[in-house]
Amino acid sequence: MKPQETYQHRIETVLDAILPNAETSTQKLHEAMRYSVLGGGKRVRPLLVYAAGEALGIDADFLDKPAAAIELIHAYSLIHDDLPCMDDDDLRRGKPTSHIAFDEATAVLAGDALQTLAFEILSQPLHGISAKNQLKILHTLTTASGASGMVKGQMIDLGAIGQALTESQLETMHNHKTGALIKASVLMATYCNNTDDDVLLSQRENLAEYADAIGLAFQVRDDILDIQSDTETLGKQQGADSAADKPTYPSILGMDSAKEKLYQLHQKALNSLESFGKEADLLREIAGFIVKRIA
Ligand code: IPE
Ligand code: IPE
Ligand code: MG
Ligand code: MG
Ligand code: MG
Repeated sequence: MKPQETYQHRIETVLDAILPNAETSTQKLHEAMRYSVLGGGKRVRPLLVYAAGEALGIDADFLDKPAAAIELIHAYSLIHDDLPCMDDDDLRRGKPTSHIAFDEATAVLAGDALQTLAFEILSQPLHGISAKNQLKILHTLTTASGASGMVKGQMIDLGAIGQALTESQLETMHNHKTGALIKASVLMATYCNNTDDDVLLSQRENLAEYADAIGLAFQVRDDILDIQSDTETLGKQQGADSAADKPTYPSILGMDSAKEKLYQLHQKALNSLESFGKEADLLREIAGFIVKRIA
């Protein structure tokens, strides 16, 4: 099994154990939470937690909770992103979106509950991680998720409908709505140890640069795929951005420049890993996957 697949299986088991089972009085809520998290998605953010952990020699057992927490936040962001009041999408991960499979109120509440579950699991005692580092992990994820991170990016996105943004405005939007959680995945891993001395400071700077590059690249590729892929491969509606008149890298800069941007970001990501040896190979592989992925 390739390392990515090993970690994808691992996070599936971790998430399954963390999510509430569907046999209580709030069965519908629990079903909706499980529906949107399990059995789909590329798991890029948990993979980044494990891969950054590998680069730093951190035991995967210490990374499971942060890896699960970031995927719970991501799943919540997708449920809300698909709502009629936001992108109004019917298909996600090859299945009807949460508000179609259940109803709008349940989808909103399942998103809310997944968000708080992420912080619930991170605020319990964490195996192998000092209390001081645990606080840094929590701070990293809260900051990346909220009004100065992903939620800010989503707000910019909604306000940008029909607008001709500049490249720098596009970059700001993408860095927040998508880059923030990707960067948090990598940064959280750097705190998954038991020492209060910040021995990982210089590695953290390099990893942060890597994460900035692949975070932006991830959304540039997403914009390109919205034009060049098809609904079945994507598991979500192709052409949704142009139908909603969203500014994207290809719509503002043209397809060739969008692809050139991806190439540059890939090089930047690889350059920032120069001080690492083979232990960062999985991070290098994920960077390649992000810029070349077809779904
Ligand atoms: C989709 O994210 C939303 C964006 C930030 C572009 P992913 O492409 O990682 O979605 P899944 O988790 O694989 O479904
Ligand atoms: C989504 O961006 C970003 C978040 C969910 C935070 P998009 O709206 O482009 O994602 P897709 O294309 O619906 O997956
Ligand atoms: Mg959106
Ligand atoms: Mg969307
Ligand atoms: Mg998109």
